[in-house]
Amino acid sequence: MHMALGKALVLTISDSASAGKRNDLSGPEAKRILEEAGFEVAAIEVLPDERSDIESRLCRASDQGFRLVVTSGGTGLSPRDVTPEATGAVIDRNVPGIAELMRLESLKITPKAALSRAVSGIRQSTLIINLPGSVKGVRECLAALRPILPHAMETLKQSSLGCGE
Ligand code: MTE
Repeated sequence: MHMALGKALVLTISDSASAGKRNDLSGPEAKRILEEAGFEVAAIEVLPDERSDIESRLCRASDQGFRLVVTSGGTGLSPRDVTPEATGAVIDRNVPGIAELMRLESLKITPKAALSRAVSGIRQSTLIINLPGSVKGVRECLAALRPILPHAMETLKQSSLGCGE
């Protein structure tokens, strides 16, 4: 494991995992892949599908200086799926190409990729990316992003002013 790309946080967004009714498998998978890609994953946290909880954790993560926050889950069509809305509410700048790339590559594997409303964007100097909740979805989407993540982190570093500046 190397840490060249900086500190990352993985947030699993799931009512059932946060209530302890099922194990979080997608968070550990995202952590494993991100570490392999060169991030230092500080933690995996599990949150319920509550918009205010997600928004405040994302804001705090960017204040804490995480370079990358990856969420898993809550991007679909069910009424409790609010991860994209929470993300959209806290980002300063949208980075639509990241979500587009995930969907483009994922659609080659399954048409159900169209059902993820994942968004991606920047808050302060933190890149926030929504992934689907399944282990398979996490794997496929991170595989699509892996080639562009180093350059994304590099350009973000150059352009960011950081918190409070
Ligand atoms: N993307 C990839 N690459 N692979 C998948 O298996 N599953 C889809 C989609 N995106 C999937 C995917 C399905 S079935 C759903 S319902 C949506 O992601 C939303 O998932 P979520 O609500 O767990 O975030």
